[in-house]
Amino acid sequence: MKLQGKVAIVTGAATGIGKAIATGMAAEGAAVVIDYVGTPDMANAVVSSLRGKGSSALAVEADVSNPDQVNALVAQTIKTMGRLDIFVNNAGMESKHPFTEYPFELWQKVIAVDLTGPFLCAQAAAKAMIQQGSGGRILNISSVHEDLPMPTNAPYCAAKGGLRMLMRTIAVELAPHKITVNNIAPGAIYTPIDADVEASRKIEATLMAEIPLGRWGKPEEVADLAIFLASDAAGYCTGSTFFIDGGMLRQSGSL
Ligand code: BGC
Repeated sequence: MKLQGKVAIVTGAATGIGKAIATGMAAEGAAVVIDYVGTPDMANAVVSSLRGKGSSALAVEADVSNPDQVNALVAQTIKTMGRLDIFVNNAGMESKHPFTEYPFELWQKVIAVDLTGPFLCAQAAAKAMIQQGSGGRILNISSVHEDLPMPTNAPYCAAKGGLRMLMRTIAVELAPHKITVNNIAPGAIYTPIDADVEASRKIEATLMAEIPLGRWGKPEEVADLAIFLASDAAGYCTGSTFFIDGGMLRQSGSL
């Protein structure tokens, strides 16, 4: 058990990569808080399944872009689970539109969820961890698009690029408190965020041609990396991005 006795919050954990991380961390002994927005059904289903396997789990609704809700999420976790050791900034969204037509309101929404959210969550988590005095782990689920441009996805790429420098900056600031901060940058992982791609064989084939390993990644593969980075084994890792992309960043296109 790599995370025995630890308490983790995973944002956006009702589905996709967040659900896999929460499930994987619970299997390694962590108590997990499943953050969600909107209808609670899927989050409650994750909690029931984890409790059924003997884990301690709780669903809490909090919009990561709302400071009061984020503070309440951390406060409720500490009240219910006793402490906070691991915070996973996973909640995210994207909406693809050509740059010249990109609606301003949507730009603000994507930046709010994908960049302001991790800022607010990391700040609230770091305050709680500093007060506890025993270090901690902050993990951001970024994307290959913190480095790789993606036409029609300008705010998403801008947010993920911003998340890279947020991570690097706060990793240095929080190091004296033994709080490590790292990004996990997935490539194409088979989850609901890519429903449009998964629904079209032609678009999917184009994407697969960009991936040297020639397949989608699995949420559980991202979870395994998150578990490592959250564990004591990763005590010397901070301020870095860990790519998990089937080689996507290294593909040489038509060469
Ligand atoms: C995006 C997906 C995309 C993948 C690889 C992810 O960050 O959410 O839409 O397929 O990167 O390009």
